Amino acid sequence: MSAYKEKKLFTPGPLCVSEEVKRAMLVDLGSRDKQFMQCVEEVRCGLLKVAEVSPEDYTCVPLQGSGTYCIEAVIQTISPAGKGKVLVLANGAYGRRMVSICERAGVSVRKVEGPEHLPIPLNRVEDTLQSEGGWSLVCVVHCETSTGVINPVQEVTKLVQRYCPDSAVLVDAMSSFGAVPVDMSGVDYLVSSANKCLEGVPGFSFAICRLTHLLSCRGQCRVLSLDLAEQHVSLQTTGQFRFTPPTHSIIAFNTALALFWKEGGVQGRAARYKKNKEIIVSGMEKLGYRRLVPPEHDGHIITAFLYPQHRAFNFTTFYEKLSERGQVIYPGKVTEALCFRVGNIGHLFPDDMHALLRDVESVMREMGLPVPLQ
Ligand SMILES: Cc1ncc(COP(=O)(O)O)c(C=O)c1O
Repeated sequence: MSAYKEKKLFTPGPLCVSEEVKRAMLVDLGSRDKQFMQCVEEVRCGLLKVAEVSPEDYTCVPLQGSGTYCIEAVIQTISPAGKGKVLVLANGAYGRRMVSICERAGVSVRKVEGPEHLPIPLNRVEDTLQSEGGWSLVCVVHCETSTGVINPVQEVTKLVQRYCPDSAVLVDAMSSFGAVPVDMSGVDYLVSSANKCLEGVPGFSFAICRLTHLLSCRGQCRVLSLDLAEQHVSLQTTGQFRFTPPTHSIIAFNTALALFWKEGGVQGRAARYKKNKEIIVSGMEKLGYRRLVPPEHDGHIITAFLYPQHRAFNFTTFYEKLSERGQVIYPGKVTEALCFRVGNIGHLFPDDMHALLRDVESVMREMGLPVPLQ
């Protein structure tokens, strides 16, 4: 029995997880315990299977910490001091975060920007790659969770192969991995974390890395704890993390992976999330809300809704009244428009989406908003 009141999380993470995943954590194992090392191995192999890549070509390197740690680890590990040259495709907050990571690390960086409510403009990417060479890394976000826009990863990798084949490609697939397929053929690094579409608990993130590229980067990382190449070598040779691993989180994740396969893998999970999203979008539209992203570019992960143009609307009140009812939505993260976000990933089902819609309607009435909005 918890001291805290559990709520439904309609957020980009951490997310609701199943009872089975929570129960799986109720065991203490040492980091050198053979059972734990076996579990780490299963998780690493399982994640390669989710990515549909072979262990001959790729390695999965889990790392303590949230997703940003692993993005930072990839950039630090593969950008040689004074030599790295990174191009970031940024149409939202998570793309811009990769720019900040490079700046902090003293890595030369340039960005190709686009409007936040649309996919990254491929013509601008092409122009940049055509007019300037020497990139060591091109970074793109798969689902830009600040808006829900899905970026054309495959087209980007094709452009990189055409104009700058020596460059590595990093895909931030934090909020999409496991629910939106990614063609890995042109991808050298893909990063995601335990507490997103694979429905584990927070505690670690992971990179699926092209083996030859990662091994060519040994000795480059300026941050000991973020050295992905050394983390890989340690896992391969000793079966262990270099520093204290999040044991409970990894053990829970192995159960989360089993449930993922039981649901039908990427297709099965995508089908439930699509259904969730359809319910929320059509219900919110009936209540008079409009979404930021055109439907053809909006994935099935999260939806950004524009603030209603009504003086009775106040996001903090709206959020708090929903939270009192046990429903947690998320603030907006775009500079172009005032929005809030409703996520539909995690251990959420159509009934949860219908319950949220009922509560949104009751909060609107309580706040004195017209139903539907005019
Ligand atoms: C696309 C994307 N990138 C990066 C992050 C950052 O991940 P974290 O908060 O786990 O560090 C998130 C978090 O939601 C995300 O959605």
